[in-house]
Amino acid sequence: MRSDAWNAFIEAAEADGWRRIVDLFGEDQGRLGAFCVEAAGLRLDLSKQPWSREGLAAALDLARACDVEAARDRLFGGEIVNISEGRPALHMALRAPDGADFKAAGAPVSAGVEAVRDAMRAYVETVRAPKGEMGDIRAIVHIGIGGSDLGPRMVWEALKPLQPRIDLRFVANVDPADLAAALAGLDPATTLVFVVSKTFTTQETMANATAARAWLRTALGEEEARTHLAAASTNLPACQEFGVAPDRVFGFEDWVGGRYSVWSAVGLSCAIALGWEAFSELLAGAAELDAHFQSAPLARNLPVLLALAHIFNRNGLDRPTRVVAPYARRLRLLPSYLQQLEMESNGKRVTQAGQPVAWATAAAVFGNAGTNDQHAYFQMLHQGTSVIPVDFIAIAQAEEGPVEQQSILLANAIAQAEALMVGQANPAEPHRDFSGDIPSSFILLDRLTPRALGALTALYEHKTFVEGVIWDINSFDQWGVELGKTLAGRVLAELEGGPAGKHDPSTSALIAKLKA
Ligand code: F6P
Repeated sequence: MRSDAWNAFIEAAEADGWRRIVDLFGEDQGRLGAFCVEAAGLRLDLSKQPWSREGLAAALDLARACDVEAARDRLFGGEIVNISEGRPALHMALRAPDGADFKAAGAPVSAGVEAVRDAMRAYVETVRAPKGEMGDIRAIVHIGIGGSDLGPRMVWEALKPLQPRIDLRFVANVDPADLAAALAGLDPATTLVFVVSKTFTTQETMANATAARAWLRTALGEEEARTHLAAASTNLPACQEFGVAPDRVFGFEDWVGGRYSVWSAVGLSCAIALGWEAFSELLAGAAELDAHFQSAPLARNLPVLLALAHIFNRNGLDRPTRVVAPYARRLRLLPSYLQQLEMESNGKRVTQAGQPVAWATAAAVFGNAGTNDQHAYFQMLHQGTSVIPVDFIAIAQAEEGPVEQQSILLANAIAQAEALMVGQANPAEPHRDFSGDIPSSFILLDRLTPRALGALTALYEHKTFVEGVIWDINSFDQWGVELGKTLAGRVLAELEGGPAGKHDPSTSALIAKLKA
């Protein structure tokens, strides 16, 4: 069933691959309506993708043959979808409104989620209160890496006020320059250090947290320093052992994957710096998209359609990369957030049953904010030798600045999508020839509100999940990062004077050079 649908899908995609996207509009008067869907405040236009109605139908048949709806119901039902780690993936429970009834492997979790959310809210109010019991907190240093960093960093960049009352700075890299830059100019007496690590063992995070704790202790003394430390983790004993007071440790459960954790206590720094109202709107926007994903028919379901469009390019037309181009400075960190979400989730080559996959999986994602990226890598999109599909993301109404500039920004986003698809033949001057036929998706938000950002983020989460279901891989583990971590431990021991280990000649030479 699956393989029949897969073969039919590939055939349909190859047939569409011979047609030009612009011509598909002429052949199908209802194309725009069929390929343009709105939900949860997002308008998704997939009409500039390279599929015809027949191609879309084959893609939907593939989704049905892969039982996407049943897999979605298992995900929301809290079944163990992360098989290699024996866990559900229930980040949707974190953003559900009060009174929800999520279960993780049969055990009710919503009451526990609400209890942490209440504690977070109370803490947000304590910290935001001017001259409250913690004094006047003016800055938060959020220390974490990967999923404990990229989500909150993206959210803050997207929503931060121009002149924040509480500044929020992020430290991820173990490079000491990262922490130094974050602490520069801050007063320990008015700073909260927030350590975020699901495991509370990650080398980079623990090194930075230890250095930041020393910075607090030197200035404030051990007791006072404790009141300037908070943590989010699943490993509560380790947080306390590190010196965080128990009432400043905010927990979450192991069914929250790192790259899906911004909705949990991991997002506490954003909740403090943006205020509780904004944070709860972020959650509400994601919950709205969850409800849409659960209830909309496949042919009108945003995450399903976006996943199918990406799979159409990745598998049907063998396109291994994709650009994400938000035409919004405030969304410029979205591409790096999506790099982890998509590439850590779906950069896999064994099926759920442990067999080698017979098809390509995650595309490599890169991007930057438009219009800057037009002056960097867009040349290659227009005239390079590879077809690289693009996700354009634009915001209709600016929150700040002159409205004319927003119009210039939007005009550029629309024009790029048009130019990539339509092209311009110029046989007389080959260097000015634009073959066109480069596919793109266009996601339009009315305004960049916390709610819209929540919906946008959840859209990409669920589209990543749908891809994983169709590729028959586990989107929720990340064993690939383990080997590098283990080897880094061995190399560090040698750099610190331990006996030389067994390595390839190049690695041994590098270690010897640095020791010398
Ligand atoms: O190295 C990758 C990773 O395991 C990510 O999946 C995770 O988000 C990150 O490390 C940080 O892990 P932790 O939150 O446990 O510090």
